[in-house]
Amino acid sequence: MMVEAGYETVAREIIKCTRCPLHESAIRRVIGKGSCHPKVFFIGEAPGDNENKTGIPFSGRAGKQLDKMIEYMGLSKEDWMVTNTVKCHPPGNRKPKINEIECCKPFLLSQIILLNPRIIILLGNTAERSFCPGRKLEWGVPVEHEGRTILKLYHPAALIYNRSKIETQNAFIDRNRGLWS
Ligand code: URA
Repeated sequence: MMVEAGYETVAREIIKCTRCPLHESAIRRVIGKGSCHPKVFFIGEAPGDNENKTGIPFSGRAGKQLDKMIEYMGLSKEDWMVTNTVKCHPPGNRKPKINEIECCKPFLLSQIILLNPRIIILLGNTAERSFCPGRKLEWGVPVEHEGRTILKLYHPAALIYNRSKIETQNAFIDRNRGLWS
């Protein structure tokens, strides 16, 4: 029903959502950032403190790292979109719980159906848990899933805390450039 009504309706539903307790402490709902016709759709984990204030996903330190990754991938701004498994900031920056991820999943799926990206990049294990529950993907190895190509890469924050992962991430990107170029 949300999908038929269009993207703006999905955004409005996100803004007024009270399906899980995360809405109680959220300042802003964090819907998405990027192109309306993305080739690549990134799924992060959850809005952080910064995103909670700005309402823009990946607008803090992890966002700077994501920008570097996108640049290394050679994507232009028409090529990509980013969102998270949940649209509200979990208090204390904790990981979102399974029930919170499940409550928010209809929004994520509606965004994907409406924007229709060819490639979905799961940024870390939480994104994998949300989008492919029960499935364990290999880092950097693409799989087909319901008509789209799914690729699991490291979350940008993991690259900040473990700089040695940047080289591995770049190798994953190099190996998969054909998917989006
Ligand atoms: N980490 C995420 O997973 N998402 C954001 O929006 C910011 C940091």
